[in-house]
Amino acid sequence: MPVTLVIGAQWGDEGKGRIVDYLARQAHLVARFGGGPNAGHTVRVGDKTYKLRMVPSGVVAGVEHCVIGPGTVVSPAQLVAELDMLAFNGIETSRVWLSDLAHLILPYHVELDRAAERERGKQALGTTGNGIGPAYVDRVARVGLRAGDLRDMRRTRRTLYERAQALRTQGVKVDLDVLGAELEAHAQRLAPHIRDTVVLVHEVLERGGRVVVEGAQGTLLDVGLGTYPYVTSSTTVAGGAGAGVGFGPREVDCVVGVAKAYLTRVGGGPFPTELAGPQADELRSRGAEFGVVTGRPRRCGWLDAVALRYAVRINGITHLALTKLDVLDSFYEIPICTDYAGNEHWAWPFRVECGATPVYETHPGWLRPTVGAHAWDDLPFNARQYITAIEARAGVAVSYISVGAERSALVVRPGAPLAGAATAGP
Ligand code: GDP
Ligand code: IMO
Ligand code: MG
Repeated sequence: MPVTLVIGAQWGDEGKGRIVDYLARQAHLVARFGGGPNAGHTVRVGDKTYKLRMVPSGVVAGVEHCVIGPGTVVSPAQLVAELDMLAFNGIETSRVWLSDLAHLILPYHVELDRAAERERGKQALGTTGNGIGPAYVDRVARVGLRAGDLRDMRRTRRTLYERAQALRTQGVKVDLDVLGAELEAHAQRLAPHIRDTVVLVHEVLERGGRVVVEGAQGTLLDVGLGTYPYVTSSTTVAGGAGAGVGFGPREVDCVVGVAKAYLTRVGGGPFPTELAGPQADELRSRGAEFGVVTGRPRRCGWLDAVALRYAVRINGITHLALTKLDVLDSFYEIPICTDYAGNEHWAWPFRVECGATPVYETHPGWLRPTVGAHAWDDLPFNARQYITAIEARAGVAVSYISVGAERSALVVRPGAPLAGAATAGP
């Protein structure tokens, strides 16, 4: 069973990129299974920072194959820009593969996304404005274009003509000459990267290779199981990984859930443990909590163990990666939400929609820098106690602990999946 899944266990931005960067060094292929340029995954190596939107984070470590899977939605223009950015930084991109089944995000999707947000007014979801929702709507409505369609631009231009007619009735004007010309240029540029990635993944599996699947967004943003309607438009949970890459559940041997040592959220929607005032400001400034994609300040709060337990259950998380522990170094007391008062008869996520009041268990801080820790015993006693309390609440072991954004600022505990990955540069 050679597939390791890496899943965001909260509302996204948990540090999936840096965990995938570590695991990729023991893998032959890294694949994204969903989402698109709404994702912003960060990998920091030395003083270089890579911000990835669609290309799997494994590209920085130089994994043999990087797959943007069939379950994703991809903006050709943004993908070209991302490949250029990587090449400019000396990262090899010739083995970045775009599934011919991945759906395309076109400029009219972006327009529709932004118009829908404007219409929602105060109830706006706070989307990233990248056309994600409308592109997935087209996929489900069976009127989308796929990356494989770029191989036949004559047929694609005909499809676009039909879409433009339909969109006119919704008040969206599409300049077919401009769009066709742009798409043709992107089609030429992306042609060497577009392929049947399902076959590739199975070739790697059949030769005994190891596959790491990189989640995007987080469990609580899942279109079905998250805080609907304040969610993204795709499946973000482990169950969607096989459907979004093209393998069956029997291939998976571990599910790594990535969670921050506290909690953040970008965009609208319920957030029971959200803080306001100096503590939120301290978390935001110490954790540099500003969105990679939109630059928006992230909402900050304490760890919600009820939500984490929910994430562990619905993803079948076998190991946790706890990130950004160092951000808590300066706090005297660190609360964990262990329950909510009220609405007892409702389950997550309905329970938090109606203003659930968190019940906290408070842990003493450690007031010492954790940066520089490389082993469990290097961590302060109170930090270890805090992690042990999270393990007890989540019902699963914390196998990785990150204490800084830089690649090497990672504690890997015995028994962690793919432990022993080198910590050298790419
Ligand atoms: P992703 O979307 O899940 O990959 O996460 P993001 O890249 O959007 O957000 C995580 C942010 O935290 C990035 O700026 C990372 O560089 C940073 N980061 C990751 N791990 C750590 C850590 O352990 N400590 C600190 N201080 N920053 C971290
Ligand atoms: P990564 O992969 C955090 C949020 C948006 C908004 C909602 C819907 O970096 O963790 P969308 O543009 O998807 O229609 O927006 O989902 N969102 C994310 N929040 N991290 C992400 O990705 C996100 N991708 C989408 O802020 O609330
Ligand atoms: Mg992110």
